[in-house]
Amino acid sequence: MENFIKEKLRTKIIGRRIIHYISVASTTEIAKKLALERAEEGTVVIADEQTLGRGRLGRIWLSPKGSLALSIILHPSLEQLPQLIMMTSLAVVRVISHLTGLKAVIKWPNDVLINSKKVCGVLIENEVEDDRVEFAVVGIGINVNVDLSPFPDISAFATSLSQELGREIFLPDFVVALLSEVEKLYVQAQAGVSPYTEWKDYLETLGKRIRVKIGEMIEEGRAESVAEDGSLFLRRDDGSLTKVTAGEVTILKD
Ligand code: BTN
Repeated sequence: MENFIKEKLRTKIIGRRIIHYISVASTTEIAKKLALERAEEGTVVIADEQTLGRGRLGRIWLSPKGSLALSIILHPSLEQLPQLIMMTSLAVVRVISHLTGLKAVIKWPNDVLINSKKVCGVLIENEVEDDRVEFAVVGIGINVNVDLSPFPDISAFATSLSQELGREIFLPDFVVALLSEVEKLYVQAQAGVSPYTEWKDYLETLGKRIRVKIGEMIEEGRAESVAEDGSLFLRRDDGSLTKVTAGEVTILKD
């Protein structure tokens, strides 16, 4: 897999070094260890399978064979840090559209959905010291060639590209396209071009009545807008406005 990717990849930063595992606990855990040992920017850790994939908010992320699990080490500036979430989910949406023609949307802040079911999750972990980003690890998990139907608990709210398409996708091609797209957006962000406007266009959450779980707290209201840093403005039923920077969104019926 890594030889095919290396041969086809035309990026300058992302994928300069690719470390491929057949099975690993978590690509993000490995990438963070490498980042602490000062691995170069753009290093990618990829695995055919994760046995203890990490999800957002302390959850487990299921990564069976056929799914895509990779983590990228980046060295963004402090200003670019909030843009990583936007650029990653936007890159996934673009690649899904280019390679499959499927219409994917983003559920705030960074879940990618097809037909209202989750197909991709993004987890960004970073280390900041004295206003300097030591590193960021962008973890991307995509249900590519996976049959989720034997797991009714999961298939109620998740889907895969192969299920939506009715055929499998050649995974290395998908990886090459994804790394190229993330790099394009990353280089643009470094040049001052934010992914914000296009990311916002794909946000299906805007305008909807939602419930957001923020730690132990729950807020309900209408998702009114998003700020340039990606935070969400929620109009509560009493008319007041609140800004949410992280949380788990459930779309409610109007
Ligand atoms: C989510 O909860 O939606 C985020 C899931 C992120 C999963 C990816 S798979 C590659 C990387 N390694 C991990 O352990 N997690 C991320």
